[in-house]
Amino acid sequence: MAKEIKTIGVLTSGGDAPGMNAAIRSVVRAAIEKGIKVKGIQKGYNGLINNEIIDMDKRSVADIIQRGGTILYTARCMEFMSPEGQKTGADNCLKNGIDGIVVIGGDGSFRGAQKLAEAGVNTIGLPGTIDLDIACTDYTIGFDTAVNTAMEAIDKIRDTSTSHERCSIIEVMGRNAGYIALWCGLANGAEDVLLPERYDNDEQALINHIIEGRKKGKKHHLIINAEGIGHSTGMARRIEAATGIETRATILGYMQRGGSPTCKDRVYASVMGAYAVDLLCEGKSNRVVAYKDGAFVDYDIDEALAMKKEIDNYQFLLSSLLSR
Ligand code: ADP
Ligand code: F6P
Repeated sequence: MAKEIKTIGVLTSGGDAPGMNAAIRSVVRAAIEKGIKVKGIQKGYNGLINNEIIDMDKRSVADIIQRGGTILYTARCMEFMSPEGQKTGADNCLKNGIDGIVVIGGDGSFRGAQKLAEAGVNTIGLPGTIDLDIACTDYTIGFDTAVNTAMEAIDKIRDTSTSHERCSIIEVMGRNAGYIALWCGLANGAEDVLLPERYDNDEQALINHIIEGRKKGKKHHLIINAEGIGHSTGMARRIEAATGIETRATILGYMQRGGSPTCKDRVYASVMGAYAVDLLCEGKSNRVVAYKDGAFVDYDIDEALAMKKEIDNYQFLLSSLLSR
């Protein structure tokens, strides 16, 4: 028989992402509707280790669905990487009566969730990261808002780039993954998209492409450069020297992580939060909620972490084809 869950803990971990608040709200309210108590664990695994745990009720998640960031705060916690840290975390769950926990974060956070599940705390992961770099899911909480934020910023850069007939390199986030870059490449009609998964460091080819574009009458040349490649400022300097075309670099940075979540992020995060509560009520543990092939599903965390994700080659080729 499945163990009856009486108290659920919820935490956000790793980089914050717009929509995390919608997920927290959903976990809290869906659980309370089922007669389950909810505790908010602040500052990711740090708060679990240091006992920064608060009681939550339906009103404690009022007025947050539209807010970026996370009301529970988030952190990266080195101490939780060690067996001692993990034991303290699991013991604190026991002390606080937490028998189920929802971890909202990326792959790293799921590795922490795995350890809690091994220690006997029923654990469910929700994919929360702007990077979209979680293999088991086609959607992660925050990606939609982040790409829309980046897209709007790049549109503005395009205006000034065209007016000055410049080349512009725009560096977007994504850690080692190129999903934000690829989506912006398509959405902003960029002439070049540099992805860590694809870029071969052939800067001469890039330079030739810029010169060709200018000969064809292009008034700007937008290059979306993924954070995983980086070095946008140096690249701009070298391109300007080689082409004679004024070139500027803009690193969009943390603005991509903030802001009010899009409708999609609010809705999907809400569904995922309630789904996690359902799984805990069914006695499930060591699972991650995902959105795959048009449906909300769940996977074993070990299996999810072993999956690999590829850049969509058709979309990558299309981004180049459509901007010629
Ligand atoms: P994300 O969850 O966005 O991938 P990180 O990789 O920084 O972000 O991971 C967030 C936190 O998850 C880490 O700071 C750490 O506390 C925890 N974590 C990451 N990897 C592990 C691991 N192998 N074992 C236990 N905890 C981990
Ligand atoms: O994972 C989200 C993300 O914003 C990545 O795109 C970026 O590489 C990283 O977090 C930055 O992390 P930090 O907030 O620790 O600088």
